[in-house]
Amino acid sequence: MFEYAPAPESRDVVDIPSAYNLFVNGEWVESLGDDRIKTVNPASEEVLSEVALATEADVDRAVQAARKAYDEVWSTLPGRERAKYLFRIARIIQERARELAVLETLDNGKPIRESRDVDLPLVAAHFFYYAGWADKLRYAGYGESPRALGVAAQVIPWNFPLLMLAWKIAPALACGNTVVLKPAETTPLTALAFAEICRQADLPPGVVNIVTGAGETGAALVRHPDVNKVAFTGSTEVGRLIARQVAGTGKRLTLELGGKAANIVFEDAAIDQAVEGIVNGIFFNQGHVCCAGSRLLVQESVADEVLTALKRRLTTLRLGDPLDKNTDIGAINSAAQLAKIRELSDIGEQEGAQRWSPPCTLPDRGFWFPPTLFTGVAQSHRIAREEIFGPVLSVLTFRTPAEAVEKANNSPYGLSAGVWTEKGSRILWMADRLRAGVVWANTFNKFDPASPFGGYKESGYGREGGVHGLEAYLNV
Ligand code: NAI
Ligand code: MG
Repeated sequence: MFEYAPAPESRDVVDIPSAYNLFVNGEWVESLGDDRIKTVNPASEEVLSEVALATEADVDRAVQAARKAYDEVWSTLPGRERAKYLFRIARIIQERARELAVLETLDNGKPIRESRDVDLPLVAAHFFYYAGWADKLRYAGYGESPRALGVAAQVIPWNFPLLMLAWKIAPALACGNTVVLKPAETTPLTALAFAEICRQADLPPGVVNIVTGAGETGAALVRHPDVNKVAFTGSTEVGRLIARQVAGTGKRLTLELGGKAANIVFEDAAIDQAVEGIVNGIFFNQGHVCCAGSRLLVQESVADEVLTALKRRLTTLRLGDPLDKNTDIGAINSAAQLAKIRELSDIGEQEGAQRWSPPCTLPDRGFWFPPTLFTGVAQSHRIAREEIFGPVLSVLTFRTPAEAVEKANNSPYGLSAGVWTEKGSRILWMADRLRAGVVWANTFNKFDPASPFGGYKESGYGREGGVHGLEAYLNV
């Protein structure tokens, strides 16, 4: 047996001020209110910094700045000029990638291996990709001279803080909109670092505004009368509230909500490869992934073989310090999320499913949950229906392809699915029948800025990414 020596990434590459103001009209401005919130490192519970809890008046100031910038500057620039700024931002993100990855890991708890190798490269790629579209909108299929919508209000979650910012801001700016973005309360720091990057790129003041705060601030932003477009990623519960609020106002809306994806393994699949895909599907980012493969559907004839291999693989996962380059599973993002994961897992046991985790020592401080799987899960169990948003896999079996389709689609959600099989014809047959926005074949959790992403049913509506993602920010 070889042991791993510690391989910590240095946190000296980031400099975190003890408090932040709001980023409005290209300046750091003090909040008009007095309330502040602390953001912690979930791996240690250490307070990293304090941010403002923006009030309705703060939000109003930010929207006014965005409106002015839209009317006077951004909407008058030709696409090739907007593209220059986006390319510049993309390059600065690449230059500062190490610093941003460490900051993301500190504030969110995700392993540095993921923030460094997945989040940051994708963030830069999104800005490069949409920079390329800014001067080519007339070729996107939305008419001769598609117009921007105006001011976009964007509210994002804590699971991929900087990546969700990129998914929202890059297409909005490429299409000629200006934005006010509110990051999640537990992970505001990379959005605030992005504000600095906007300054470094000489982006005209007011084109991007960042207001920090919790649900109240988000609600104030969404209901502001001078907003033309609302883009939200988060829980289905809040998505429903927002849909109600926006209905009848003429504001355009896209929602990217929860999921309960089926990862379907057929008996002819390459089992070792499938096991890697199952692990990546549910344990990537501690399972804090809306498109996570949280329901494993495995064909009965290979169920024992797959489960044995999967359990063996789980014993090799390393949980611990997210800044360690060898860590596979980092910290749960918040005490609240940990409580939710614990509650649903306990309910899984009470409902009669069998719980299993590899031997695993959890650190004393911070928020942690071991990789967990449940067997003997019925479709009616809450752990098969509700989004747990943690490192917890529910295992079900099936006998025929038709049964796999029926079970996979038996969900209020429809964001993603995975199919593992050697047969190309079966992949197409399944993809045709699965009610999910993305269907991965012999892979899982693969993202690319050129590929659209979004849901069916309670997973939301609208698409982000690709040429489809432009539609959400154009008056078409
Ligand atoms: P949430 O939906 O409350 O938070 C997402 C964002 O919305 C945050 O920025 C939050 O401040 C903001 N927000 C909250 N209430 C709002 C309102 N009334 N109007 C406007 N903005 C509002 O999600 P939360 O509480 O962090 O997580 C709860 C569950 O939601 C998770 O356990 C998970 O199941 C799901 N979730 C799904 C995500 C996804 O990517 N689809 C991301 C985050 C959470
Ligand atoms: Mg934090």
